[in-house]
Amino acid sequence: MSIELKRIEEFAVVTLNRPEALNALSFSLIRELGQLFDRVAASDARALLITGAGPKAFCAGADIKELAGRTLIPHKQGTELGQWTFARLDRLPMPSVAIVNGYAFGGGLELALACTTRIATRNAKMGLPEIKLGLIPGYGGTQRLPRVVGEARALEMIMTGRTVDAEEALRIGLVNRLVEGDPVAQGMAYAREFTCHSLPVLGFAREAVQRALATPLSEGLRIEADLSTLAFQTRDSVEGMNAFMEKRKARFEDR
Ligand code: CAA
Repeated sequence: MSIELKRIEEFAVVTLNRPEALNALSFSLIRELGQLFDRVAASDARALLITGAGPKAFCAGADIKELAGRTLIPHKQGTELGQWTFARLDRLPMPSVAIVNGYAFGGGLELALACTTRIATRNAKMGLPEIKLGLIPGYGGTQRLPRVVGEARALEMIMTGRTVDAEEALRIGLVNRLVEGDPVAQGMAYAREFTCHSLPVLGFAREAVQRALATPLSEGLRIEADLSTLAFQTRDSVEGMNAFMEKRKARFEDR
């Protein structure tokens, strides 16, 4: 198996497991990833964590050996497969966290960028080096990187293909936190900071923020009003406000 899906406590944990190629994304691996996302979507996991097997890499990107020599139509189809697979992360009912535990280059960083948030180990190294191959990012990098780090930084990273270390990634907001120790255990502790809240309400929050970047402010504010009204109609919002007034911890039931 080039990918593993495990249930650890309340989390679905996907491990890219092709360490001999630094977990590079072959097309069969991308297809497998899409199938696993479907299984996670149908599960009651409270978050999806994605990481890479082995001590060196989260994922070194698209499988260059497989890319080389492809003709135009298969190349476009492969790009669309990668884009479509990663975009499914936005539609999962639960948030996703990339645990970047080493190299995250090209398609590997694009996978991390498609997750709801990212954390990294101190040895992590990230970049979109496609330009060095005479290519540009094809699995969402040109669209998601500027949304995460801003246009100027994204352009510089994409045009130089340079590597960003963990400290810089944290400083520019490419990752939210650096962790030490067991990466999956750290990822679970990090995710619990939000998975302790109501899952449907977290979904409304994710959708509102994601749509903010794709809409003009006036329309975004209307979307926020609608989603906030939906959140207000959940039982969890009644529980949350009652718990505040009764000076106790809320017990959310995801409804
Ligand atoms: N595709 C296929 N195989 C890869 C790979 C990749 N992206 N990255 C690493 N490997 C393989 C290597 O070929 C090597 O296998 P062999 O021993 O059989 O030759 C094995 O993994 C170990 O790699 P290295 O010996 O190179 O390890 P290193 O520690 O010296 O270097 C590295 C690590 C800096 C990450 C280097 O492997 C590297 O630069 N990899 C390519 C990174 C890259 O350019 N990624 C972008 C791919 S294009 C893309 O992703 C397009 C897109 O937008 C979708």
